[in-house]
Amino acid sequence: MSTKGFDSVYSLLYHVNPPTATLEVRPWERPAVTFVPNDPLRNRHFRTGSLEIAGDAIESRRALLGNSDVTVSIANVDRPMEYFYRNTGGDELLFVHTGAGTIETPFGDLAYRERDYIVLPTGTTYRLVPASPTRMLVHESTGTVRIPKKYRNEYGQLEEHAPYYERDFRVPAFRAPNAAQGAYEVRVTNGDRHAVYVMQNHPCDVVGWDGYCYPYAFNVDEFAPITGKLHMPPPAHATFESPGAAYCAFVPRLFDYHPLAVPIPYNHSSVDCDEVIYYVSGNFMSRRGIEEGSITLHASGTPHGPQPGAVEASLGKTSTDEVAVMIDTFKPLLLAETAIACEDPSYYRSWIEEPART
Ligand SMILES: [Fe+2]
Repeated sequence: MSTKGFDSVYSLLYHVNPPTATLEVRPWERPAVTFVPNDPLRNRHFRTGSLEIAGDAIESRRALLGNSDVTVSIANVDRPMEYFYRNTGGDELLFVHTGAGTIETPFGDLAYRERDYIVLPTGTTYRLVPASPTRMLVHESTGTVRIPKKYRNEYGQLEEHAPYYERDFRVPAFRAPNAAQGAYEVRVTNGDRHAVYVMQNHPCDVVGWDGYCYPYAFNVDEFAPITGKLHMPPPAHATFESPGAAYCAFVPRLFDYHPLAVPIPYNHSSVDCDEVIYYVSGNFMSRRGIEEGSITLHASGTPHGPQPGAVEASLGKTSTDEVAVMIDTFKPLLLAETAIACEDPSYYRSWIEEPART
């Protein structure tokens, strides 16, 4: 299994039976998602916790935001996949909000739990089996999800100042190969093209593998946030990057230690990227009206920051218990109808000062 032609990371997987034995290929009619521009251009808030979605890890995905680099979806998984799935159009990055379970892959079984990030390299065949209802934020990239270069030394090893360590990344656990033969469904997707493959050999018939291309998990509780004397902007909290997108995790941490520091972010405009935050847990003190499962989209060039009163309320606070994850995109994000259906349309007015009471 090789990537970028034969020029990037690859792995050798040792199958008991040929992985090529294809009994049938038929169409997979995936519902198309309609995206519309963020027009009028403004900041938005989506209450995704209110969406009523259920199904397996693929069928319960609902796209919310997307562009030609990445699609962001929410999934509420309440049952195992009865088939395998393979996305050959780019890497997938799952963030598990709640729930636990296992992802079965030819590399072995990858156990997951809440607050895991899971990287599934393009071409990974998998089947997600929840042990408990699982709510996930799904990022489908059209490229490679990787650890930011600034965290790596010239040999690829994580630098000592990186906010995580190689030991924090979990790989699939070996499982004895399943050499059964029969008819195994593998749903394959690549951008706008989809197919259902029926394979003669079970995909998880691998006796061993080696290489640099494999699924792995990282729990944001292991993330060691970099804090400072004054406010550290989001790149200090970077976890991953993919073409046209940057990912960050905001986890419980001490606030800035300058005696006059304002502990929460300043108002700002990020003029050339769209900023998306998914709120996981804790007290989101810089954002009014936000709840667990909320997503805010701060559109490129649109000023935003703490709502009125939040700065004053933060003074003297020494730490935060909030957990949130972020994705910034450098191309404008489009809105899917599922996002529009759960939008809080008044969010862009949430920075208005309450009139003084007399
Ligand atoms: Fe921002």
